[in-house]
Amino acid sequence: MFSIETNNSSQRVTQHLRTLASDAPVGARLPSVRDLMRDLQVSPVTVQRALDTLVQAGVIEARPGQGTFVADRAEDARVTADYAWQSLALGAQRLSAGGLSSLLTMPTPRMRPLNIGYLHEESLPLGLLAAAGARALRRPGLWARGPVEGQEALRAWFAKETGGAYSAQEVTICPGTQAANAAAFRALAQAGDPVLVESPTYSGAIAAAKAAGLRLVPVPMDAEGVRPDLLEEAFQRTGARLFYCQPTYANPTGAVLSAARRPEVLDVVARAGAFLIEDDWARDFNLEGDAPPPLAQADPHGHVVYVRSLSKCVAPGMRIGAICARGAALERLRLARLIDDFSVPGLMQETALQLVTAPSWPKHLRALRTSLRDRRDLLVQAIRRHLGPEALPIVPAGGLHLWTALPPGISDGAVASGARARDVLVSAGRHWFPAEAPSPYLRLSFAGVRAEWVDEAVATLAEVIESGS
Ligand SMILES: Cc1ncc(COP(=O)(O)O)c(C=O)c1O
Repeated sequence: MFSIETNNSSQRVTQHLRTLASDAPVGARLPSVRDLMRDLQVSPVTVQRALDTLVQAGVIEARPGQGTFVADRAEDARVTADYAWQSLALGAQRLSAGGLSSLLTMPTPRMRPLNIGYLHEESLPLGLLAAAGARALRRPGLWARGPVEGQEALRAWFAKETGGAYSAQEVTICPGTQAANAAAFRALAQAGDPVLVESPTYSGAIAAAKAAGLRLVPVPMDAEGVRPDLLEEAFQRTGARLFYCQPTYANPTGAVLSAARRPEVLDVVARAGAFLIEDDWARDFNLEGDAPPPLAQADPHGHVVYVRSLSKCVAPGMRIGAICARGAALERLRLARLIDDFSVPGLMQETALQLVTAPSWPKHLRALRTSLRDRRDLLVQAIRRHLGPEALPIVPAGGLHLWTALPPGISDGAVASGARARDVLVSAGRHWFPAEAPSPYLRLSFAGVRAEWVDEAVATLAEVIESGS
């Protein structure tokens, strides 16, 4: 249950087999377990798991002693199903994933992912997770109905992590911070309201704010974070009461809101009578010295709504995050969470708690920082060598991403597609801007980088850029 590696790989094999089955006629034989193991570099258990899933789904048929074949039912479903009525029923599309779907696609072993914002499989604390999961499974009451706000002890841990900015009573556990941000956008504003965001900012926040019906208003940022003068102007001009902000190692730029600007930003927000959502997703990824304290520590009057994730520093499958707030905002957020899904599964919460309170947890974080620093430096060197020093004016002191400038006039979207055709995955900068991109960028992530291919992957990227696509 806690083998995240096997889970990810088996999803990849399932996807691969699904594609093969949809391209082949009914009754066609699919590759053997041995071929799949060799081609996709996975274990027999992983292949078997994928085969079982597809047999259950009726996509393939297993004939003992003969192999697996494209099932009849898959073909029936393809030929006879008519979903045309759904277009009328669904009407206009309001949801937009922006760049999110490409970020969440599963890379095949051939691919060189420079677009992944989660830890590489080899950095995951799988042993610690297995032990934490086993301890969690022995806890009494694990499968009972849990409180909407989450387990007391886990909330207390998150509260302590904020350095005393919040008490456990002010913390609500969420299934990741994407869910936390989405709940905040819905609970703290009404459809049609403006929401101020740094420009550029996290594409998942852009998608969630749009899905909540909010109007995104970009506020420019620079190497020191958002500009307080422009933030003030944006509040005055739009009457916004909500600002989404990443003060520490922002995704995608890696910028840290400077010590001088921190109190200014809080003052501007307080004068506007507004909320500031502080998305502190990268707190554990300080690669040079300590991260600055959360803005929330200097906010006695409840303007800051603070969001923190565990999926980043533990594993992408650890869908646990927290949202912290005070006053009526706390009540509204709890209500939004209740309406969304009642509560986060107890097993997941208990496993998270067992993990982060284990004596070896700080050791994992230290090792993680060292390995991420090495990966960052490898990617920085490769970018400087192949794309030139001007591509990366700033090397961030933390986070997982390098915001890489393309030469003017180049299409970031075309570069991303051209690179993908050559198995190098990058994220086009346009997905990170709430409005038009002022110039072309790529977001290159070092979390999944490996020494044996990074230089070649960036060299390929340089060729794609050079070719003008
Ligand atoms: C800035 C930021 N916030 C929130 C998230 C969502 O993370 P999760 O839902 O896994 O906690 C991400 C993921 O990439 C992110 O970069």
